Amino acid sequence: MANRVTINADLAAGTINRNIYGHFSEHLGRCIYEGIWVGEDSPIPNTNGIRNDVVAALKQLKIPVLRWPGGCFADEYHWKDGIGPRESRKRMINTHWGGVVENNHFGTHEFLMLCEMLECEPYISGNVGSGTVQEMSEWVEYMTFDGVSPMAELRQENGREKPWNVKYFGVGNENWGCGGNMRPEYYADLYRRYQTYVRNYGENKIHKIACGPNVDDYRWMDVVMREAHGMMDSISLHYYTIPGDWTRKGAATSFSEDEWYITMKKALWMDELIERHSTIMDRYDPSKRIGLIVDEWGTWFDVEPGTNPGFLYQQNTIRDALVAGVTLNIFHDHCDRVQMANIAQVINVLQSVILTEGEKMVLTPTYHVFDMYKVHQDAEMLKTTIDSQDYAHNDQKIPQVSVSASKDAEGRIHVSLCNLDNQSGADVEIDLRGLAGAGLKVSGTELTASIKDAHNTFEQPEAVVPSVYQAFTVEGTKINAKLSAMSVTVLELIAE
Ligand code: AHR
Repeated sequence: MANRVTINADLAAGTINRNIYGHFSEHLGRCIYEGIWVGEDSPIPNTNGIRNDVVAALKQLKIPVLRWPGGCFADEYHWKDGIGPRESRKRMINTHWGGVVENNHFGTHEFLMLCEMLECEPYISGNVGSGTVQEMSEWVEYMTFDGVSPMAELRQENGREKPWNVKYFGVGNENWGCGGNMRPEYYADLYRRYQTYVRNYGENKIHKIACGPNVDDYRWMDVVMREAHGMMDSISLHYYTIPGDWTRKGAATSFSEDEWYITMKKALWMDELIERHSTIMDRYDPSKRIGLIVDEWGTWFDVEPGTNPGFLYQQNTIRDALVAGVTLNIFHDHCDRVQMANIAQVINVLQSVILTEGEKMVLTPTYHVFDMYKVHQDAEMLKTTIDSQDYAHNDQKIPQVSVSASKDAEGRIHVSLCNLDNQSGADVEIDLRGLAGAGLKVSGTELTASIKDAHNTFEQPEAVVPSVYQAFTVEGTKINAKLSAMSVTVLELIAE
């Protein structure tokens, strides 16, 4: 039996904000130090201390926005520790992540330089949990004020004459947990207060992001929206896909059939979470002015054996690629509300797109999904329906195929298809309506593997890489495609 997909080429249903393809970098494990920052004297090729290989790989992805400095680290971070001559910056213990020494060599200037190299927007997370209003206010002034002021002068003394453009600013992170264990009523009041002093200087207009809920904490969303919706541009949501629980999350490789299935099922839960949070937001913001920013998402497994448990270093398999593919398809579906998302985290932590070891770098299956899917950035989402077969496991079932389609500025249509079943292929009949009479030129790329924990290593960096996809036939505006088991496929359709 085939899965049936109808793509309405003439029914645009909103724009897929390119920021949905955003990333997250925290002072955690080997994300910043080693992954991004190696220092100017490193034998690893770098520009002003930042790895050249990593910058090139991320530029290839067209990463639109990068969040920093945390995560939980953000609510312990005092930005003045990370400016001025590097040799004299404070050394301290990163108490939250692994108890290692943080020398503050990567600070505001280094992060904003990285964003300039990547040509992406910076997204700064401010400290509400342990920082003061003055500290937050001065950070914004330091980065963005172009006039006479103590912070602008300090910036200039530190070598940066002109301010940076900083659009995205988060007022706290996980303030229901590591960011202060607050109740939503208390956080909402603090948000109102702190954001007052996050000022717009000159042309720099800050997009203020309130700390939103953990997973399905609908009360948090309701209270913060009720109390502060008029003072925010967006609100965040955090949801990680964890096959087990917080005590035993499950291994990143060598996992069971059950774990594969539950991972897919839990990844699909993102759809319901967004739907329900968005419905609450609708009550206070029916015009959908306020964005939902899923600024932490992705898989979270047990750390690789023998690594520091506080470093959250995990391998990345074809299973992660499927989680990335279905989640991005879900974000597209909600592009009227989801204005940004930041997978956690960009390098060497959780569901990374890049892993490094010394001078070596490897691109993960998740990287390849982001590369294949980048064609959707800023494209018009096309209204698409699917009648999917079931992917059944024991006495449970979920849809086997996930799909999303968009039309780019040149009129090319891209269709991303995920087959969540790791054992059976999927026949898909795609009917492209709204292009009556037109013929189609179709090409495709596929990411798949023959074993369910296939992954790339420093010894075998190309075990899971995209290949040309040709398992389809075309008749007029209908396409019959055969998806491989556990695959992510992107088709490009050009009307002729
Ligand atoms: O991404 C790892 C951690 O997960 C972040 O620091 C925190 O915000 C979340 O709990």
